[in-house]
Amino acid sequence: MAEFHSKIKTIEWVDNYSKMVDQTLLPYEFKYVNITSGQAMFDAIRTMIVRGAPAIGVAGAHGVVLYAQEIEKENLPREDFINKLLEKADYMATSRPTAVNLMWAVKKQKDVIKNSESDIAGIVQELKQNAIMLENEDIAINKKIGDYGAQVVPKGATILTHCNAGGLATVGYGTALGVVRSAFANDPTIQVFADETRPRQQGARITTLELTMDGIPTTLITDGMCSYFMKKGMIDMVVVGADRIAANGDTANKIGTYTVAIAAKYHNIPFYVAAPLSTIDTSIKTGDEIVIEERSHEEVTHINGKIICSPDVNVINPGFDVTPHELIAGIITEKGILRADYNKSIAEAFR
Ligand code: MRU
Repeated sequence: MAEFHSKIKTIEWVDNYSKMVDQTLLPYEFKYVNITSGQAMFDAIRTMIVRGAPAIGVAGAHGVVLYAQEIEKENLPREDFINKLLEKADYMATSRPTAVNLMWAVKKQKDVIKNSESDIAGIVQELKQNAIMLENEDIAINKKIGDYGAQVVPKGATILTHCNAGGLATVGYGTALGVVRSAFANDPTIQVFADETRPRQQGARITTLELTMDGIPTTLITDGMCSYFMKKGMIDMVVVGADRIAANGDTANKIGTYTVAIAAKYHNIPFYVAAPLSTIDTSIKTGDEIVIEERSHEEVTHINGKIICSPDVNVINPGFDVTPHELIAGIITEKGILRADYNKSIAEAFR
């Protein structure tokens, strides 16, 4: 089993390349890979070497720097350099469609390019500095989310989470698991139930690894078990991450989250979303406008390279679902916990 500690950086800019944990290898191997070209970053995001909305955002920002370094070598006139780089940035933003942090971070880099008054070498430097700033900011934001969230965790609570919204889904510390970490620091009697999260098993492969390495008591359950444990009174609250939140609070997160939210509502268990403001897309009114990523059928039909079903069966594999805002007790952000009416509280948070 791989060794992981929450103080580790999931993704980091080093000299002239991006260094990241290869999450496809977890939990067997904890290995860093160096991503040295723009196309390699696009592929790393698409194939989920790096995953989790905030980590994907930082990866996208790094990807723009990698493209800038490549285009710099072509010795183009400044205007042509800028136009080519802006095109590559737009391409980078298409590597995964649902997590809005990717588009958000790429836009931050595009703003640097458009507003810079420097020569080409200067623009590349400014892009690097901005990427490193986004990295550092991410950890600080997660700690704030964790501390706000810890205030609503009851003493000795059992917290259910879905997928992995932890240190490995961010630069470090985590959003939903940031709440768990901050709560555990105050109250070591809390514990976590982690959904395994089919089909990519982020809950089993990554969440259980992160939490047990930090000594946080964790129980792994399969996705279909949540209502069973809720009915038995064994779950006190749910905290999940988010990939995109609409202006009305509707929240896209890993497929299966919606089912957990419905079960929580039925059993009167508070269901919280923990996410930075960069996950909120105020340009869309409701979750109906969120593009849901369709992923390869093989993720469903195969486990560890082995087929687990009839080869002739039909398959559909949406990567995310949208939890309607009325099922959400609060959205835990770096600016505090937003409550319904979300149209108002979200607009307020951006003021
Ligand atoms: O497909 P993934 O693994 O990138 O999906 C991750 C999630 O759904 C997370 O819950 C979300 O990105 C929030 S991460 C802090």
